[in-house]
Amino acid sequence: MKVKKICCIGAGYVGGPTMSVIAQKCPDITVTIVDINEQRIAAWNDSDLSKLPVYEPGLAGVVAEARGRNLFFSTDVDTAIADADMVFISVNTPTKTYGKGKGMAADLKFIELCARQIAAASKSDKIIVEKSTLPVRTAEALKSILHNTGSGVNFHILSNPEFLAEGTAIEDLHDPDRVLIGGENAEAVQALVDVYASWVPRERILTTNLWSSELSKLTANAFLAQRVSSINAISELCERTGANVDEVARAIGTDSRIGPKFLKASVGFGGSCFQKDILNLVYIARSYGLQEVAHYWEQVITMNDHQKHRFADNIVQTMYNTVSGKKITFLGWAFKKDTNDTRESAAIYVADALLSEEASIVVYDPKVTAEQVYADLDYLGTRTPAENRRLVSVVGDPYDAAERAHAIAVLTEWDEFKTYDWHRIKDHMMKPAFVFDGRKLLSGSKLDELGFQYYAIGE
Ligand SMILES: NC(=O)c1ccc[n+]([C@@H]2O[C@H](COP(=O)([O-])OP(=O)(O)OC[C@H]3O[C@@H](n4cnc5c(N)ncnc54)[C@H](O)[C@@H]3O)[C@@H](O)[C@H]2O)c1
Repeated sequence: MKVKKICCIGAGYVGGPTMSVIAQKCPDITVTIVDINEQRIAAWNDSDLSKLPVYEPGLAGVVAEARGRNLFFSTDVDTAIADADMVFISVNTPTKTYGKGKGMAADLKFIELCARQIAAASKSDKIIVEKSTLPVRTAEALKSILHNTGSGVNFHILSNPEFLAEGTAIEDLHDPDRVLIGGENAEAVQALVDVYASWVPRERILTTNLWSSELSKLTANAFLAQRVSSINAISELCERTGANVDEVARAIGTDSRIGPKFLKASVGFGGSCFQKDILNLVYIARSYGLQEVAHYWEQVITMNDHQKHRFADNIVQTMYNTVSGKKITFLGWAFKKDTNDTRESAAIYVADALLSEEASIVVYDPKVTAEQVYADLDYLGTRTPAENRRLVSVVGDPYDAAERAHAIAVLTEWDEFKTYDWHRIKDHMMKPAFVFDGRKLLSGSKLDELGFQYYAIGE
């Protein structure tokens, strides 16, 4: 079984970069990425590569190389499905906002719609690949929908979760720690192994059964998030005891059993995946009656929420217990550096808490638009869109953002923040000039020397 044509449903942060890299590395395979969002597809097709809907270092170069050669972006979902031998499902699987499992379970309505559309549009046998992150045993539901079409078309279902990290997606895709493929049909598994083997060493392509593959993705995200919550829990203890969380992280991270990665204390993790995937894991555990397992993983989220609130509370307390009418500058809105993705960003929740205290907030982020900042705040529904626009402004220059500010809060670890003329910034701020560093990004000693009142998590 040799794959010649791939269709990917969903041109988002995963579908766009992963399929662009497959097209780049496999010039003999035609890859068509489809989406129902016309604006998104138009942006992927924009001749100006700075307008691609996803910002990732290196992505524009990959798209420039493959687009129009063997990489295509389209809204014609049915045609792309019908033509393909292999169909990736890479649509969003957000937390349910209604009904049973509200606020916990993954909303699989987009996945089911894809399955029904694949069933209706297919005239020839296909391999269907779950690229989205899904609850364990979702493949069973897909099978049931696809195998009951009565069309005589055969489908093989594979699970191939994506482990890329936003901000380093292209690097991760070019040189993955591993590729995971779960499936029952050996020929179908081999067909997908062969695609990746064009550039990934064979020993890094792991094959498992379907359920292990589905569950491994949720487990990987749960473990990663757990490390962040673990070090953040210690950061609060450091603040009370005079220990320094960076020193503790270094001391434990040199233990080869622990390792140094994901031990940076911060205002809390964000992103579209960690919270949703852990909630989903908790929901699944509970649905099997495993209360202790559910409770154990739920604590990772509890700790993360606490860290965001604690950061906002500390700003208010330090600024003499009131921020009403005070201008607070946010450096960064994206959930991490090198991405324009703001989903579940800590900045949103810290802003919401400070706005409830009637602060006025000015946001500067190198890659996030004003529309996105307002959309994120409006989505919370805490106050009216008009109120959000009255209290929050978004500017395109960091020095303008800090002009006459009472405090600066660092919410994203963008490298450029380190290179600013902090002397100039302080001169134009209200005094005392506070800096609350939610990412432990800046040099505390340098800022102290310049006369800032500098606060970092875990010190
Ligand atoms: N973002 C990450 O870092 C990351 C990493 C690994 C895995 N994942 C998983 O990958 C999946 C996709 O995540 P994402 O960040 O790319 O989401 P996204 O929201 O950026 O993109 C999903 C896209 O799917 C499209 N879509 C939805 N239903 C559709 C349909 N029926 N037909 C055609 N298009 C449809 C949407 O319009 C959207 O553009 C999720 O399950 C997520 O958990 C994400």
